[in-house]
Amino acid sequence: MRNIFIAGNWKMHKTSKEAEALVKAIIPASHNADGKKKVMIAPPFTALYVVNTVIKGTNLMLGAQNMGPEEKGAHTGEISIGMLMDVGVSVVILGHSERRHVYQENDELINRKVKLALKHKMEIILCVGETLDERESGATNKVVEEQLKRGLNGVSEEQLSKVTIAYEPVWAIGTGKTATPQDADDTHSFIRDFLSSLYSSALADELVIQYGGSVKPHNAGELMNMSNIDGVLVGGASLIAEDFIKIINYE
Ligand code: PGA
Repeated sequence: MRNIFIAGNWKMHKTSKEAEALVKAIIPASHNADGKKKVMIAPPFTALYVVNTVIKGTNLMLGAQNMGPEEKGAHTGEISIGMLMDVGVSVVILGHSERRHVYQENDELINRKVKLALKHKMEIILCVGETLDERESGATNKVVEEQLKRGLNGVSEEQLSKVTIAYEPVWAIGTGKTATPQDADDTHSFIRDFLSSLYSSALADELVIQYGGSVKPHNAGELMNMSNIDGVLVGGASLIAEDFIKIINYE
């Protein structure tokens, strides 16, 4: 049985005070979390410290939305892996489509971050997904395959246990459009097959694949009930405690 992994990505929202209030409202729902059902929130960097102090002793996991590709040094504006670990982060989201498409991060850069995080035994959520043009031209699988191949270049079988893949069709993020559960499941199944060819079917079987893109309380259950969807990466709806709690407790 694969684990279930529900994650909230707060993006560029919430001051420290607001973050503290939001996480306090979410904590009771995370009591349902355990080794099999993981719940993570990824506040902005500036709120990580305070959120970490509030979630100590709970089952909520602390995620970061990105990190720099180097250990330390003259990298103005970057946040290092050591800094993330220092404030209690245990998972980092890498290759989010907003990083790829708005901030021009390419697969090579993302791969450096992937390897750095895994070297430090940090869990990662590696995001992949196609644009609307790519989907309409029938290139979805090819795009996802390339992103996986390049993003995971040099990642060992042993390290794969720290990897979650998030399939996030770019056209579904923040738009209110969701892939149908069947479409999403088909791509998840393709991802699992491809990773089975890169690694092994046993490892691919264990791999948690999240769906992301306009996940809301009303569609979380039908997505999660698909056989290859093991979790969700939630943007907008993770900013509203009531909605995120409903998603955590999806049926
Ligand atoms: P959304 O964002 O739920 O607001 O569409 C998802 C994401 O970007 O991870």
